[in-house]
Amino acid sequence: MTAKIIDGKAVAQRVRQELKPRVERLRALGVQPGLAVILVGSNPASKVYVGQKTKACAEVGVHSEVHEFPGNVDQDSLIRRIQALNASPKIHGMIVQLPLPDHLDMRRILETIAVEKDVDGFHLYNVGGLVIGQDHTVFPPCTPYGVQWLLESEGIRIEGQNVVVVGASNIVGKPMALMLLKKEATVSICHIKTRDLAQYTILADILVVAAGKPRLITAPMVKRGAVVIDVGINRLPDGTLAGDVDFEEVKEKASHITPVPGGVGPMTVTMLIWNTVEAAERILKRNGAPETALA
Ligand code: GUN
Repeated sequence: MTAKIIDGKAVAQRVRQELKPRVERLRALGVQPGLAVILVGSNPASKVYVGQKTKACAEVGVHSEVHEFPGNVDQDSLIRRIQALNASPKIHGMIVQLPLPDHLDMRRILETIAVEKDVDGFHLYNVGGLVIGQDHTVFPPCTPYGVQWLLESEGIRIEGQNVVVVGASNIVGKPMALMLLKKEATVSICHIKTRDLAQYTILADILVVAAGKPRLITAPMVKRGAVVIDVGINRLPDGTLAGDVDFEEVKEKASHITPVPGGVGPMTVTMLIWNTVEAAERILKRNGAPETALA
C-alpha cells in the first residue's frame, strides 16, 4: 500500500482562506495587519523565501514591506531599523530573514525585535515560552507550527506516539520537539552526531526530518505505517529540489508522507501570515478593542 501524500499546498490554501475574514474584520476596525521583513545581503534562497512571503501576504490582504540591506551593513543600522519598526503602528509582525552575514550578532539582532511582533518566534522570550509550554502567549516558529498543523489536519494522533525528530536546529528541530512534547508525544531528537540513526528512526510512529541532507532517510530506516514529514529542501546538482527523505522508496512503506516541494514549505509561509494576523489582533486587543469585535 502506498502512503497518503499530504498536500501541504491545499492545506495552506485552506488556512489562507480562513485568514481572509479575520483580516477583513481587522480592516473594518481600521487596522491592516502589516509584516516587515529584513533582508540582508543577496543569498538567492533567502530572496526566494522573502518573495514567497510577500506574495502570500498580498493574497490574504496583509500589508508587507521588505527592508533590504547590503551584506556589509553595520549592526547599529540594523538595530535602529528594527527599533523604528517596533514603534511603527503599521507593522504588527517583523522577521529578520536568516542566515545573516557572520559579522553581525544574530542573537542581539533577534532580541531587539519587540516580543509582541516576533512572528518568527525566534526571540529568547518566545523560545522560553515554548520550553515551558505556554503556547497561547507566544508565537510558535512557523515551520514546526506548520508541521503540527499538517499532522492535526490529517487527523494524526500525536499523544503517546513515538516521535523522532532528525535535526536539532533552533529554527526547526528543537522547537518541533518541544511542540510535540507539549502534545504528549514521546520525543527523541537525533542529529549529526547520532550513532546509528536507523536504530532511532525505525521506532518512529511520526518521523520529522529536518537535516538538510538529500536521501538521508531510506525505506529500511522507516517503520511500516509511519507518518513521515520531510522538512528538507535541497537543490540537487541537476537543479531540481529534493527533501531529506527518499520519497519514492519511503512512500511504499509510510502511511502518510509529505512531498518536496508542496509539503511543509507552503505551510511555513502560511503560518507566518497566521502569526502576523494573530499579532495584529493581540495588539488591537491590548489597545482596548472589544473582544466581540474580533471574535
Ligand atoms: N531561514 C530559513 N528559515 C527561516 C525562517 O523560518 N525564518 C527566517 N527569518 N529565516 C529563515
